[in-house]
Amino acid sequence: MKLIIKSGRVIDPTQNRDEIGDILIENGVIKEIGQNIPAEGAEIIDAQNKIVCPGLIDVHVHLREPGFEYKETIETGVKAAVAGGFTAVCCMANTNPVNDNQEITRYIFKKAKELCLARVYPIGAVSKGLEGKELAPIGELKEAGVIALSDDGNPIYDSGFLRRALEYAKYFNLPIISHAEDKGLAPDGVINEGLMSTSLGLPGIPAVAEEIMVFRDIKLAELTGWHVHIAHVSCAGSVELIRQAKAKGIRVTAETCPHYFTLTEEAVKDFNTNAKVSPPLRTATDVKAVRKGLKDGTIDVIATDHAPHHPLEKETTFEDAPSGLIGLETSLPISLKLVEEGFLTWSELINKMSCYPAKIFNLDGGSLKPGSVADVTIIDPEVSYRIDVNQFYSKGRNCPFHGWEVKGKVAMTIVGGQVVYREN
Ligand code: DOR
Repeated sequence: MKLIIKSGRVIDPTQNRDEIGDILIENGVIKEIGQNIPAEGAEIIDAQNKIVCPGLIDVHVHLREPGFEYKETIETGVKAAVAGGFTAVCCMANTNPVNDNQEITRYIFKKAKELCLARVYPIGAVSKGLEGKELAPIGELKEAGVIALSDDGNPIYDSGFLRRALEYAKYFNLPIISHAEDKGLAPDGVINEGLMSTSLGLPGIPAVAEEIMVFRDIKLAELTGWHVHIAHVSCAGSVELIRQAKAKGIRVTAETCPHYFTLTEEAVKDFNTNAKVSPPLRTATDVKAVRKGLKDGTIDVIATDHAPHHPLEKETTFEDAPSGLIGLETSLPISLKLVEEGFLTWSELINKMSCYPAKIFNLDGGSLKPGSVADVTIIDPEVSYRIDVNQFYSKGRNCPFHGWEVKGKVAMTIVGGQVVYREN
């Protein structure tokens, strides 16, 4: 089975490549990359005026299955993923039952495999039931194939417990992804603590609730010599702490999400529950700092924290609505605004949405080097359109970008040499 992608602008930061060219795919693998590759016997994909890059990888997704299929299923989640240009997603453990055992990990793999769409990499829980008390069977989870550990959604409060978890995780070569939030500082908090929380009369969550945990996590990464990945960085203080830790050579990496470099707490001013998220949207100063962190390499990865909830769950008071917003089908066009503004180059963006996720979590893909799996995203950079939640493959409608005018659309997503999504 041969496929040739013709005359696209091929951007692959892992090869310092940004040029018009062809890619030959054979038996699911990148065979050759170059100019005027002969096309006999191959299906031809015309990529003229399009960007061709390593398939996008989202390291932070909630697929909700098993247990919360009314919010999302593995099927609707991966359909949303490939429509958003993602060839692989890593799914969080806060399902029901929690992914703290081999049965659940295997169930997720099996479902994903049957679908043959995006690659799905399960993330195992750090603690049984995400309760932060007893370690999950890390060795067994590793054996079943998890690529990292996280109690995401719940912070790990007990520092001694996290230290022990890091020591075990190190032995099994699994990074720990940290949901850094000290809820003791904001037991009832629902939005950023500041002017907006005061004017809306809603309990706030101060940035320091995140910063304290980021600092603690960094110290434990230093102590154990093991890799902590900070999830969904939302504030200036965290960015600075991570910057300093990296300068000291501590094994820490970080991600942020499109909503943290695009939106401020203003987005919730009409009590818009679709912009209620944990950690909360913060101030313009934080947005600026998160962007700077992306630019200077402090923040390695753009992830979505795709967190679908049922529309009826969000149709309640701000305080009662669950936290979370969806991102698989908006991440690329929203992130592309950074390129359009001249803030990031295409290569920098592709690094953060594909190459670094693959490298940090040791995943297939993230490169178009010959011999790599043929996971490719083709993007039409000139198409403008309006984001419409009613067009989404995801079951979620909790998207604060509904109605936004954006530029840049996924034209095709290829996983292992198979076309899994084609625009129209
Ligand atoms: O807003 C959030 N929602 N943040 C998280 O960390 C978890 C997520 C969820 O699972 O809904």
